[in-house]
Amino acid sequence: MLWLAVPLAIVVLILLACLDTRKPKRFPPGPKWYPLLGSAFQVHKARSRLGSLYEATAELSQTYGPIVGLKIGKTPIVVVYGPQAVKEMSLSEDLLGRPIGEQRRFLVRHLKEFGFGTKNMSILVEEEVSHLIDFIYKSMDGTDSVVFNMESLFSVSILNTIWKMIAGVRYSPEDDKMKTLQKMLSDLFKIIHMIGAAFSHYPILKYIAPELSGYKSYMETHERIWEFLRRDLESHKKGHDPDNPRDLMDVYLNILNSPDHAESFSEEQLLAICMDMFMAGSETTNNSISFGFLYLMLNPRVQKKAQQEIDLVLGNRMPCIDDRRNMPYMEAVTLEALRMFGCRAFVVPHRALKDTYLGGYFIPKDVLIIANLHGCMMGPNSGFENPDKFIPERYLKDGKVVVPENFLPFGLGKRRCMGEALARSNVFIFTTSVLQKFDIHLIPEHPPDMKIVDGVTPAPVHYKARITSRKL
Ligand code: HEM
Repeated sequence: MLWLAVPLAIVVLILLACLDTRKPKRFPPGPKWYPLLGSAFQVHKARSRLGSLYEATAELSQTYGPIVGLKIGKTPIVVVYGPQAVKEMSLSEDLLGRPIGEQRRFLVRHLKEFGFGTKNMSILVEEEVSHLIDFIYKSMDGTDSVVFNMESLFSVSILNTIWKMIAGVRYSPEDDKMKTLQKMLSDLFKIIHMIGAAFSHYPILKYIAPELSGYKSYMETHERIWEFLRRDLESHKKGHDPDNPRDLMDVYLNILNSPDHAESFSEEQLLAICMDMFMAGSETTNNSISFGFLYLMLNPRVQKKAQQEIDLVLGNRMPCIDDRRNMPYMEAVTLEALRMFGCRAFVVPHRALKDTYLGGYFIPKDVLIIANLHGCMMGPNSGFENPDKFIPERYLKDGKVVVPENFLPFGLGKRRCMGEALARSNVFIFTTSVLQKFDIHLIPEHPPDMKIVDGVTPAPVHYKARITSRKL
């Protein structure tokens, strides 16, 4: 009997392997699917050659068109590229799936109470920036210049703007605890990327190659961030007064203490929200500001022009969010910084809520769809001239700011970014305040590499700048 079982098992395996490589009818075109791997190998090869997932998927779109069907391990994934396809995908009611429905409603409702999108938010950002300016002066140590690693200069201040609303606390830019948290977040973001880490597609890697696959460091980092959040939650519980909620954590604790709260509310879920807000809000904003300063450092002409407007409109007064209206050039610098980040980023993955069609192709229920924003803001059909150049003037018409329709760093439609107002305030106020007080210089011995760190959010590769105090 055994002589029959072995060939039978082989036949079954071959059949399963063949089924694994079959694409659903009218599924978007894309590289061939191999058994077990899907098209992971082709994506990996292009990514290693080009240096990033956004470039790899942009290249695939050149070959297969604006909607590309992939399969990574067992997971079919559709990548969308270019303004038309990205807009169709973002506006499709069938493609809005994400796991956080009820919790999202909670966030939208309550974040406002603690400053989100209100005047208080502006005050919060202004406070943070003045701490940062003090920190830069202090670091000059009596001289008028200092060298900084620019990609990390703003990170604690940005985290503070978010953490203040959620947990009511802020940390000094020198605080080791916060610096460590920031470092952990950046590390985590490098391990995973928009189509998921290798170990999430091939769970067996968790057991046979935990270190090589990044699983071990992912878990360790995750654990440490979780611990940090849990400590702040525990100290919150001690000072919790149900009648006077101080921040988002207190409101959530009130819900948890009410007898009839929905099942989806739990302490674990609260920590997950904190983590999501950290992930969604801090690296994105921080990296947009870092990209902005990278290009400002390389374009002294733009820096000078921005400073002329700052001196004229603000003089020595600190900027506030209302100044955006009277400072079109700085607003344009902000937009260009956001574009330089956004054009290397993806939207957060969407999930098909049911079987549907996109651009005429069939998208089965539960398939993940990610939009590569490069095509909208840097690609050949983006409508941006010389897209790789930092040109704030592109947004100015008769002295007024005009935002092009393919400018989509925050996505579009019902799933668009919830933190856009905070992010725009942060980028505007931080950039304006630093340029008001300081000049940013390239260090000839350390020219920036202009490559990006690939991960969930793109970041400029580590670069240094000399910051000198402006003689006003
Ligand atoms: C420059 C900074 C930022 C950029 C470029 C950015 C960009 C984005 C993008 C592209 C999306 C996905 C849109 C889509 O899927 O269609 C998104 C979603 C989101 N963002 Fe932002 N974001 C930034 C800052 C922030 C901040 C500061 C917060 C909050 C503190 C935040 C919270 C969120 C949340 C919660 C979502 C998920 C919304 C949902 O699932 O419905 N973001 N963001």
